[in-house]
Amino acid sequence: MKRPTAMIAGTGHAVPKRVLTNHDFAGLGIETSDEWIVERTGIRQRFIAGEGESLTSLSADAARQAMKAAGVTAPELDFIVLGTASPDRLLPATAVEVQAAIGATRAAALDICAACSGWVYGMQVAEGLMATSGAETVLVIGAETLSRIVNWKDRNTCVLFGDGAGATIVKRSTKGRGILSVFSRSDGTLADLLHRPAGGALRPVTPEVLAEGSNCITMAGREVFKNAVRSMAEACDRALDGAKLSATDIDLLIPHQANIRIIEATAKHANMPLEKVYVNVDRFGNTSAASIPIALDEALRSGRIKEGMTVMFVAFGAGFTWGSLVVRF
Ligand code: ACO
Repeated sequence: MKRPTAMIAGTGHAVPKRVLTNHDFAGLGIETSDEWIVERTGIRQRFIAGEGESLTSLSADAARQAMKAAGVTAPELDFIVLGTASPDRLLPATAVEVQAAIGATRAAALDICAACSGWVYGMQVAEGLMATSGAETVLVIGAETLSRIVNWKDRNTCVLFGDGAGATIVKRSTKGRGILSVFSRSDGTLADLLHRPAGGALRPVTPEVLAEGSNCITMAGREVFKNAVRSMAEACDRALDGAKLSATDIDLLIPHQANIRIIEATAKHANMPLEKVYVNVDRFGNTSAASIPIALDEALRSGRIKEGMTVMFVAFGAGFTWGSLVVRF
């Protein structure tokens, strides 16, 4: 495929109204502390979806902003690709609910389940659709309501995650702008290190499942940490190789916002000084598939990304899945 084929033409993001700070966990009966969470993760607060808020409503809000930024109307969308691990329903895909909510009357719509790599995978799918199916305008969303699938009795996981949505309009490249390289991988042999053991068709929800909380996310934190650092390092190397660039050519690194220690280790491996690394995990927590598109939208709207800059994105998540992109703006 000739690159760049696809470029980012507009972005948006949305979060729930309710903010949950580290201090608020005491009121929920969870034995933890601000100090423990900040030291291990860098997270200070996260947004939690409440009544009337859903994956669909957050995604639709983010999508409307992205369309406005790109000067695109909903009927112009050819495809909606939504990366999520927390769909509103198991069937149908949340992407079709977003399609209906925004009035994208001509669009096909599908969900991608690649956990925290959902947006990076989604961008690669969008690029492929533009190269092969004639799609001209694709909406790529990364969105999560993880607060609805975490076990609020498990302090190992419930302090880490937050809710939100980030949206990106992808259009055909002009003036050499767009995706310069992509990389993606998966390793299902390690699936049990970060998963929801039950709640799918293999082990449906039963009173027993609910009692043990096995329909919620469970995680072997230290193993996830090691694999995340190793895989994100590989993904940075491969994306740079693919674009025939070196770290000094990258103006900004936007990594998946899981944890400040993972971000710092990834930046160190990629030889990126921390001033060139976007961090908002302190304010949003780990929003999984939403984390990169939320960070991208903030970086664009605040002027941190300007026309002509080259940005590298890197993600890692349950599966395991991982991947990266280099994009010229
Ligand atoms: N508050 C207080 N204590 C806690 C908490 C908490 N919220 N959670 C766990 N603990 C305790 C445990 O019970 C354990 O106590 P014990 O030793 O008495 O059994 C102890 O803290 C564990 O401490 P450590 O092993 O030192 O914890 P660690 O330094 O590994 O940090 C963490 C844990 C933050 C989960 C780390 O492993 C991590 O960041 N892993 C990556 C996980 C991640 O980011 N997952 C997101 C999904 S994947 C992705 O997005 C990349």
